[in-house]
Amino acid sequence: MKNYLVIGNPIEHSLSPKLHNFWIKKNKIDAIYSKQKLNDSEIGSLILKVKKKLIDGVNVTIPFKQKVIPFLDILSLEAESTQSVNTIYLENNRLVGHNTDIDGFSLSIKKIDFEVTNKEALILGAGGVTPSIIYALNKMNVSKITVTNRTREKAENLKKLFKNLDIIEWGNITNFDIIINTTSVGLNTKDEIQLELPKEIKNKLFFDVIYNPQETNFLKKGKELGNKTENGKNMFIHQASAAFEIWHGVQPEINNDVMRLLD
Ligand code: ATR
Repeated sequence: MKNYLVIGNPIEHSLSPKLHNFWIKKNKIDAIYSKQKLNDSEIGSLILKVKKKLIDGVNVTIPFKQKVIPFLDILSLEAESTQSVNTIYLENNRLVGHNTDIDGFSLSIKKIDFEVTNKEALILGAGGVTPSIIYALNKMNVSKITVTNRTREKAENLKKLFKNLDIIEWGNITNFDIIINTTSVGLNTKDEIQLELPKEIKNKLFFDVIYNPQETNFLKKGKELGNKTENGKNMFIHQASAAFEIWHGVQPEINNDVMRLLD
């Protein structure tokens, strides 16, 4: 039986096992997908197990997406460009790090009817998933990307990876066509991002990487003002589906049963 897992800290709330095990069963694959909470000092020995073929694939979540990199042999272009790895596998005896969050975001945007090309994007936050979103937006040819983060330095650091960013003070709002929340504010239903949104903001896209709760206060506000909204559920499902395809060579079906699994 093949052995897959997601590593992170915290990890209790990860829905990856539920999703992957559903697809594993559907496709009659002899495998199991579990989750493991790690400390920084345990990353190396865990990844060594992939090299020794004791583990067949690893998903990586917060706070390890960058921290796993020194233990890998090669990175895909996407992982290298974002310095972010969420999927690990062995290929020709080399440990490969890849990033499927990028495709996850791009595909979730493609699913909704909102043209991104030549539009201006404003990103809230500069955490683990932010580089993947910037990379995806660049690939979709947005005209401008602005980042604002509570800790400004972390936003400034992103300029080392992406030259074309504008950084503004936290809480300031510039013009935007798409606004994306990549912060963890909203995970608790009562959380509210302290933002002064102009009242006339309309027909824009409000995207939140959070999918539980399904509608954060950020999305609620966007909707009330007359904007399109999208949560992170499809992004999550598509990043998982891309990892599944890499590991098992099968594209898993995304249907209503899958959507309901995550409710
Ligand atoms: P990490 O920072 O370890 O990558 P993350 O969950 O990926 O963790 O990112 C958390 C993001 O949410 C960061 O952008 C963080 O801002 P800071 O860099 O200033 O910490 C943001 N964040 C978390 N709590 C916040 C709050 N109460 N207000 C504003 N931003 C917040």
